[in-house]
Amino acid sequence: MDAPNGSQDTEQTLDSQVKAFFDSAPPLQNRNDIIQKLNHFIQLNSLSSENGIGKRIVCVTSGGTTAPLEQRCVRYVDNFSSGHRGATSTEYFLKAGYAVIFLYRRGSFQPFCRSLPDDPLLECFEATEGLNIQVCEAYSKAVKTAIVDHHAAVDSGLLLKLPFSTIFEYLQMLQIISKPMKDIGPRAMFYLAAAVSDFYVPWKDMVEHKIQSGSHILDVKLVPVPKMLSVLRKDWAPLAFCISFKLETDSNILLNKARGALEKYNMHAVVANELSTRKEQVVVVTIDDKITVQRDKSKADDDVENPLIKLLSQRHSAYIEDSKRMR
Ligand code: PMT
Repeated sequence: MDAPNGSQDTEQTLDSQVKAFFDSAPPLQNRNDIIQKLNHFIQLNSLSSENGIGKRIVCVTSGGTTAPLEQRCVRYVDNFSSGHRGATSTEYFLKAGYAVIFLYRRGSFQPFCRSLPDDPLLECFEATEGLNIQVCEAYSKAVKTAIVDHHAAVDSGLLLKLPFSTIFEYLQMLQIISKPMKDIGPRAMFYLAAAVSDFYVPWKDMVEHKIQSGSHILDVKLVPVPKMLSVLRKDWAPLAFCISFKLETDSNILLNKARGALEKYNMHAVVANELSTRKEQVVVVTIDDKITVQRDKSKADDDVENPLIKLLSQRHSAYIEDSKRMR
């Protein structure tokens, strides 16, 4: 049966918005390098499993995208996200046996570095009398763990880190990542914790040089960023297990908004979080459930991502089994 005209129109509008976005985006400088790294990573992790079907691979997005206001960018609109959620989740995904593509905002939190101070180089190290550099006693365990665990994950081919800054880079990279992820079917997961710009200035409408501060009003037209979640589910990687996030500051509207996103974008789960309590508790909204997930407060160093990733990993396994049965 044909879709009603309204929904056909909406689909066409989205398709044309998506096309306009990618047509106008400045091409990625290191596109070929990224593709090469990704193909190698996915190939490696598709061979390396004991059961012969390859590892589960998750793409974790983390940090906020920027929307530049000038082509030679001095000013931009930013999105709040420290990258803590994405970095912490990456560690738990690795523990749960996943290979992780970590698509992160340059300068945001990194996996295995959460227990280091804000300025690790200056605070964790000191010069000895002979001007050798040594780790300060107070940080020696944290530094050793960060270096050993990080190198172990990267060197064994289980962690691939890809940085972005702008919305143009982020969405082009997400599209590139989804291509080889599509080929691994239900083994792929997208965990979309990045805070993605809702509005942007199309590249062709953007002034080249720094906007001058002479006038009293800054008149810039921002247009909506097409929600790529539907495109990801429908075209880019239709068999992948997809988790998106819903962030609100008003807890009264949070769950309804999460439910709306679940249905509208056909997600497998939406993780609902409120800004002020996001490190303590989240609610995982699926088609049949609303599950509250909390940090274990009796353990000082527990994170809400610990039970969250356990739950999502179980749901992903069940999804893979269901997909096998339906083949
Ligand atoms: O990084 P932290 O400081 O630890 O904080 C973590 C977090 C609060 C940022 C994280 O848990 C979170 O909620 N991330 C999503 C925030 C967000 O942008 O929500 P949203 O309602 O604007 O978007 C919902 C979903 O749509 C997101 O999964 C986003 O990736 C996606 N999106 C958004 C806009 C857009 N144009 N396209 C998208 O695909």
